[in-house]
Amino acid sequence: TPVVATQTPPMGWNSWNKFGCNINESLIKGIADAMVAAGLDKLGYKYVNIDDCWMAGTRDSAGRLQADPTRFPSGIKAVADYVHGKGLKLGIYESAGTATCQGLPGSLDHETTDAASFAAWGVDYLKYDNCNNQGRPAAQRYQTMGDALKATGRPIVYSLCNWGQDQPWIFGPATGGSLWRTTGDISDSWASMTSILDQQAGLEPFSHPGAWNDPDMLEVGNGGMTDTEYRAHFSLWALLNAPLILGNDLRSMSAATKAVITNSDVIAVDQDWGGSQGRRMRDLGGGLQVWAKPVSDGSVAAVLLNRSGSTATITTSAAELGLGGSSSYALKDLWSGATSTSTGSVAASVPSHGVVMYRVTRTGTPQAARPAGTYQVS
Ligand code: GLA
Repeated sequence: TPVVATQTPPMGWNSWNKFGCNINESLIKGIADAMVAAGLDKLGYKYVNIDDCWMAGTRDSAGRLQADPTRFPSGIKAVADYVHGKGLKLGIYESAGTATCQGLPGSLDHETTDAASFAAWGVDYLKYDNCNNQGRPAAQRYQTMGDALKATGRPIVYSLCNWGQDQPWIFGPATGGSLWRTTGDISDSWASMTSILDQQAGLEPFSHPGAWNDPDMLEVGNGGMTDTEYRAHFSLWALLNAPLILGNDLRSMSAATKAVITNSDVIAVDQDWGGSQGRRMRDLGGGLQVWAKPVSDGSVAAVLLNRSGSTATITTSAAELGLGGSSSYALKDLWSGATSTSTGSVAASVPSHGVVMYRVTRTGTPQAARPAGTYQVS
């Protein structure tokens, strides 16, 4: 069972994609301030997660981790108190190895001590990496930390970061994990984002409330993709029930970036559980694809994805999206907000490296599934 049962994919922010090791306590506090100032907390974003490089190069005389004295002179508890004071939650990072990916002290064989430190500091989320693991079995290493987190009695969301190795979607839930990375690291490019997307095929059955496939953190707003590409990235991650962990500088974002990450219709698709993670329904060739996810109210979220180099019309149907059997449908374009009706065709002109995302709802009378009159009672 998970350390914390996350009924919806976690939402928040993490320092790595934008800042790497260039982090300190004023940055983290500033991000918490910006998160609230931008109203992101009201949309569901609540975790402020510190990634690698927060810790000092050595443990203290009692064997405990300590914060880097230059980057976090007030210590992690002070940062957690500040973040909690804003109504948000604090996340931290460690590795199930002898050192983190940046060569700082790892938690392998120190799990009880480190979990106790995290709990004492008021940490609410642990991203647990896989560097320097000494070739020891993943299931065992992740189990030991999961058990240590549970033993603290503090609800700490447990995020497994072993890059899809050893099938974390199989062994992860038993370790207490609520989410697990499915691939290597994302980078801020269309090629990286779409490559990770393609690696999600087949993982749909392992995603459900309390257990989420993690295609890695968002790059929206970091500058390596166009706004059109970032809309596609955000739409697809929502369709996959991905954790929505922002990776940009919330203190200085463009209006376009803010519009992407605050789209409440798209966030609602991510946070809704309609019985399955979204999947690719159809590959039309030439880079044109149809992706869809069932939504709990009986509607379907559809993403028409254009991976080609020029604008193209992408056409599917309500029946292909799993929504046959109605004489008419309501369509809402989740990026323009435009609404329309259809007798079954779902189509749009989609820009290169972009998406059109619809919510499709049955509105008509049920179509007869059998010849009329066959089953009439006279
Ligand atoms: C690994 C993880 C990344 C990040 C870095 C930090 O590469 O997969 O997400 O945490 O380590 O060093």
